[in-house]
Amino acid sequence: MKFTNVVIYYFSGTGNAKNTALWVSDEAKKEGIEVEIFNIAKIDNQEIPKPAKNTLIGFISPTHGFHFPAIMRKFVKTFPKSNNCSAFIMNTRAGTRIGNKTICGLSGVLHYWSSIILIRKDYKIVGLLPVDLPSNWISLHPAIKQIGTELIYKRVEPKVRQFTKEIINGKRNYKALFDIIQDIIISPISILYILFAKYFFAKSFIASSDCDMCGLCEKTCPVQAIKQVDGRMFWTYKCESCMKCMNDCPHKAIETAHGFLIVIWFLTSLFVGYLISYLLNYQFFENWQLLQNENIKSLIVSVAIFPFLFIGYRLMHWLMRFKLFERIFVLSSLTKFKFWGRYKAPNKGIKECKK
Ligand SMILES: Cc1cc2nc3c(=O)[nH]c(=O)nc-3n(C[C@H](O)[C@H](O)[C@H](O)COP(=O)(O)O)c2cc1C
Repeated sequence: MKFTNVVIYYFSGTGNAKNTALWVSDEAKKEGIEVEIFNIAKIDNQEIPKPAKNTLIGFISPTHGFHFPAIMRKFVKTFPKSNNCSAFIMNTRAGTRIGNKTICGLSGVLHYWSSIILIRKDYKIVGLLPVDLPSNWISLHPAIKQIGTELIYKRVEPKVRQFTKEIINGKRNYKALFDIIQDIIISPISILYILFAKYFFAKSFIASSDCDMCGLCEKTCPVQAIKQVDGRMFWTYKCESCMKCMNDCPHKAIETAHGFLIVIWFLTSLFVGYLISYLLNYQFFENWQLLQNENIKSLIVSVAIFPFLFIGYRLMHWLMRFKLFERIFVLSSLTKFKFWGRYKAPNKGIKECKK
């Protein structure tokens, strides 16, 4: 069956998923199909109407920690039931170029998770496609250079267009399932990541003294996670680490506080180590040799770090008012180095529908 109507819902931090949505929309229009396109960060889930009969619905989002980011997970979960409709799912993920080779990203559980939810809402799943666009995770690695970005974009665009053509003309394409073995292997990490994304990565951002409080990051944050506290920007637990603020800041004033995170990790390990030896010395757990095990200790440190980070982040935010501390936190950040750069997806321009 050829569809007559396509509705695309996308979320995007730095523009890759947005550009993918644009390619899909453009290709569908070429086939004479009516397309509506919505940025889910700008619409209210409660107001999404039940789709018209025989509509093809697309969900497009970046991959975060081998899953969809929380905003997309919530969107899929609360999406209205099908009206004899079909759906496709696309995830942009971290493609990297090493020499002439493009290394693909890892999708993890997202295709299986969202397919199950949508099938339970009576959607027919007609397409599942991972889209390997440049990695934007610049808290972890330096930004991919412009030339590498262009090369990856050139390679990927025809694949997205071909996929769109196929599913719009009634074919099915489940390319994402080729990765099933690696997806299953890494799936436990996606659960751990949900915890870390919310309670760890959200507390890794700072605004340096280059910040002139223009408020752009606060206004454009897709999940309203940034607010001004005591005259400085503060990242709340709503943050999805989508990297929009860091990449868009016109003064390059937003950094990942690597030095601070290392100190917190160190202090937590010290505290946990001390606590364990105290408990064992005083024979609280006389025969509990398990606590001596290094893996168990690391696991306890991983959980204990969250309260340390909660307090530490507030303390750092307060200390940043003093020039000396501001310099220490900023200069111990890797993102401060010029070579690290920022990621900019090519701007394809897009017209969104507003509801
Ligand atoms: C916090 C974070 C987590 C990420 N996790 C993954 C991942 O698990 N697998 C992957 O392939 N890419 C991962 N990436 C890379 C992004 O999914 C990828 O760069 C995507 O194309 C960004 O899309 P956007 O520009 O629309 O935000 C991650 C990026 C960030 C910022």
